Amino acid sequence: VRVPTPANEPVRDYAPGSPEAVRLRAEIDRIGGQVRELPHVINGERHFTGRQEAVVSPHEHARVLGHITLAEEKQVRAAVDASLAARHDWSMTPWWERAAIFLRAADLVTGKYRDELNATTMLGQSKTYHQAEVDAACELADFFRYNAHSAAAIYDQQPTSDPGQWNIMDHRGLEGFVLAITPFNFTAIAGNLPSTPALMGNTVVWKPSEKSALSSDVVMRVFEEAGLPPGVINLVHGDGQSVADQALASEHLAGVSFTGSTAVFRSLWKTTARHLDSYRAYPRLVGETGGKNAIVAHPSADPEALLVALVRSAFEYQGQKCSAASRAYIPRSLWSRIEDRFADTVAGLRVGDVAEHETFVGAVIDAASCTRLEQAITEAKSLDSHRLLVGGTVRRETGWFVDPTVFVTDDPTAFTMTREFFGPLLTVHVYEDGDWTNILSLADNTSAYALTCSIFATERAAVSEALSVLRDAAGMTYVNDKPTGALMGRQSFGGGRASGTNDKTGSPLALQRWVSGRYIKENM
Ligand code: SER
Repeated sequence: VRVPTPANEPVRDYAPGSPEAVRLRAEIDRIGGQVRELPHVINGERHFTGRQEAVVSPHEHARVLGHITLAEEKQVRAAVDASLAARHDWSMTPWWERAAIFLRAADLVTGKYRDELNATTMLGQSKTYHQAEVDAACELADFFRYNAHSAAAIYDQQPTSDPGQWNIMDHRGLEGFVLAITPFNFTAIAGNLPSTPALMGNTVVWKPSEKSALSSDVVMRVFEEAGLPPGVINLVHGDGQSVADQALASEHLAGVSFTGSTAVFRSLWKTTARHLDSYRAYPRLVGETGGKNAIVAHPSADPEALLVALVRSAFEYQGQKCSAASRAYIPRSLWSRIEDRFADTVAGLRVGDVAEHETFVGAVIDAASCTRLEQAITEAKSLDSHRLLVGGTVRRETGWFVDPTVFVTDDPTAFTMTREFFGPLLTVHVYEDGDWTNILSLADNTSAYALTCSIFATERAAVSEALSVLRDAAGMTYVNDKPTGALMGRQSFGGGRASGTNDKTGSPLALQRWVSGRYIKENM
């Protein structure tokens, strides 16, 4: 079986006044005027429980967009049971039929549901037109299409047979259920994390972030309309800790498909360690977690390309991409050429309501995020080693707005160069031009993370040296480009060290994690 070779979904530009922009704006207004009830979906049935929580718009926090109810023990148990009950039939379904469902889902994402996915992502997660489109429409569909295509390569791997003997590799799903815990920052990741194990024959309990409940609800409807049988993916909203504690205590836990913070992922490992003696099989823990992504520029770097990369990777989506740049090392000669223009550009970025086309920076996801960023900014302002170049203000009246903020520091080991903030906060260390080799080691050693990094240099020897010194410093290394915006089929995403298990989302490597092989040798 060959799955059609996918192409990346073309990105629409939503030029103001264009028919597609007008249609999407109408969808934003329609959904923004509703208060949606966002149920658990267990075995294809909608459930509500008593404990309600409002879902609000980060850039207009008085606007209630919907309600989730928090799962209680009963719902989590029902979701686990539904997954286990659906497992046999689903895992015995020919893989190309499973793939066909996700290929249909991709077409629903780029067709019928495109506006609804974009509008819910804009309203609920505060993404701009462009940021919603590359995520909720394009990357989500790309994940479904590229995964289906890659699955073929995995199922094609078969052993050699000899006369009178037939060897077969039976690519089974894992025995048990998979728990998918997904983040607020990408609608595509939220859809990909449960669907990847499902594609490979597993059944899933999916706990989306409550901050993405509005768009995750649409993704769930896409799965259903595409033909996913009841029980294969069961969505439960709730407190992450209590849902995880209960699900991880099941002897049938087969794996965890996670994107989120390093601290939470580590706590999941610790919890599974506590239950290790009771599991029927070793659970596979697959996770992508934090980052402290660096841009490292050499004196030979192209200043224009560097400027664009700094602005886009630090401030698009408010710095809330796992891949966002949050520290930069720039040689003095280059910095003196770009400092003023960089400061002006950042100060000129429009912060506000994402439904306005001019907005570049929306709101950060919630009040807690605002507070965390404000505390970091206050602390950095108090340090002699730090100079505030631009930004530094936080406004909470209508939405959770943090102005794009840049500090310049002469202390490359300061907390601003090591701690993840997950917001529009960039710190630049200006180094002496001759210090390139030391700076590479410093960039490698000052962070516990290893997700993305960018190297800017036009001298080939400098590129080679950086690639060598920073070999383990990132799972995604970009040369003369920003460290954000990995494209499926081109750069599969993932990182090492404290950034995750580096299983390369959207690639055959990721699919392989959800397969448990069985060799069958039959004498004929
Ligand atoms: N995949 C996103 C990017 O590359 C981050 O998760 O920016």
